[in-house]
This record gives sequence, structure tokens and C-alpha cells, in this order.
Amino acid sequence: MDNRDAEITEKILGLKHKRKAVILAHNYQRGEVQDIADYVGDSLGLSQSAARTEAEVIVFCGVRFMAETASILCPDKTVLLPDPHAGCPMANMITAKELIKKKEELSGATVVCYINSSAEVKAESHICCTSANAVKVIESLDAKEILFVPDQYLGHYISTQTDKKMTLWPGFCPTHLKIRAEDISIRKLEYPQAKVLVHPECIPEVIALADEVLSTGGMCRFARQTEAKEIIVGTEMGLIHRLSKENPGKEFIPASERAACPNMKLITLEKILWSLEDLAPQVAVPEGTRLRAKAAVDKMLEIG
Ligand code: 13P
Ligand code: SF4
Repeated sequence: MDNRDAEITEKILGLKHKRKAVILAHNYQRGEVQDIADYVGDSLGLSQSAARTEAEVIVFCGVRFMAETASILCPDKTVLLPDPHAGCPMANMITAKELIKKKEELSGATVVCYINSSAEVKAESHICCTSANAVKVIESLDAKEILFVPDQYLGHYISTQTDKKMTLWPGFCPTHLKIRAEDISIRKLEYPQAKVLVHPECIPEVIALADEVLSTGGMCRFARQTEAKEIIVGTEMGLIHRLSKENPGKEFIPASERAACPNMKLITLEKILWSLEDLAPQVAVPEGTRLRAKAAVDKMLEIG
């Protein structure tokens, strides 16, 4: 850490204490942001942490849908998103209006939304899921037909793990789409002993080459437990920081260095400091939408 980062970090820690704040960071955040967070995790772990924190302020180092989920779960807390432009392009690939229209077309289908969706879309859904619990959530449903939104690739992966009839919304993650099957094949030639982990947001051709298909939290657990010394990581590059830090004797090879999410990288130490100073930008969800979205998120959290 250089002198400037050290100075900002000291100020953040002082203000965090004064504001009774907690800093939650997603696994794709910049290394220096992960290093000052109280909790670093995947979307499921972050929602669970937000649900149980006793802090008065949550500084959410991630993208908007994550901060919104924290606000849905904790309406009495101040939720800060240090850069208001940190959105998720996949979450923006469906609006509540479009979902309502599709529900009318497929009358009777049960809507499952990936947590990477707006509060309004969650409010129109029966239950929410993350990449860590998607199969478990779908399997728990007594539904003839499921409409899964917005990620077609996570939806496709789930459909290979269940007998349920699923209709998939055509959304996708532009960052995971940058990982191609050729990237994995090249890495496997370079590191023949390596285990291949990929995220279920990847395309089916990439998933077909994986040893394990896991959420980012699942990848962290796998990396700790495996005997393998070399691991090819098929997800956003930011995870390599945490994996390397937690497993010093192991080598983590990005499947593609192009897989960097520009939105996740918008959060910086400076912006975290400013957000704690100003208690802004805040994220809050209108009460009517919040209550309906909360029902979908709560159902998911009960399943775990
Ligand atoms: P997880 O960390 O929950 O696996 O999600 C990945 C992701 O793309 C979040 O935006
Ligand atoms: Fe959205 Fe993909 Fe970025 Fe995750 S990595 S926030 S799904 S664009």
C-alpha cells in the first residue's frame, strides 16, 4: 500500500467508527477496497451480512442491485453506494414493465429472479436466487413452469441440473461473456495439472470445460480445500486478489484477463472516504416496492 492509500485508509477507519458503519465488499472489488472491508463475499454472503449487521450505516462496495438488496433488508439503515454509477448491465437488461408483460404471456409461470436485478423486478418475482443457491431454490419450488430472469446463461446451467421446465430471459453478463472456450483450452495446455473453476454466468461452451461450476464464494471454499496447487479461474479478475491472499502456496490463473467488470472497479478508496464524510450517495427503495421485493429475498434467505 502506498502512502496515499495508507492515509486514506486511516481516515476511512476513523470515520467508520464515528459513523457506526460497516464496509461490505463484493469479491470483484479492487484489492485495496477488499483489504479495508469488514466482510468480503459473494452476493449471497453479502445479503446475509446486511441482514444481520447491527451497524447504523452500510457502505456497499459493489454494484447498485447489491446496495438495493441491503436497503430492502435493512430499511432503517443508511445504505451508501460510493459511486452512484456502479450499476450492473445484466440487471438493466429487464425492466418491471417487460417482466409484467412476459408474465401475462406465460400465465401461471413462477418467476425466479437472479439477485442481479432491480428492486422493481424483484417485486414482480416469486423468489430470488444467487449463483450460490440457484439450483437449490429452483428445486424447492412446486411449480410446473418457471420463468427465470434475467441471466440466460445461469438459467441454462440450472436447467441442466433440474427437470423443471424453464423459460429463460435473454440477459447476460458482458464481463463473463468475454471468457471464451478457447481461453480455457489454452490455459489447460499451459497448466495441464490445474483445476478449472468457472462461474455459472459463463456460456455453456466454457462450462463444458470446467471441473467445477461455482459462485465466487464457492470458488473461495474450493480453493482452500483442494490439494491442487494450480487453479484456472473462470470469472471476473478481482477474485484473484482474495484467492491469492488466502492461499499463499497456490497459483491462480485468470481464464481471461479481459474479464474485468468496469462497474465493480468504479468503487475506490477515495470514494469510500467521501461517502462516509457526506453520508452520500444513499440508496433507498420506495416502501411499496421494498415490501414486495423483500418477500422474494426473504424466501431465498430461508432456503439459504
Ligand atoms: P457471485 O459473487 O454471487 O457469485 O456473483 C457474481 C456476480 O456477477 C455479481 O455481480
Ligand atoms: Fe453485472 Fe457481470 Fe459486473 Fe457482475 S460481473 S456486476 S453480473 S456486469
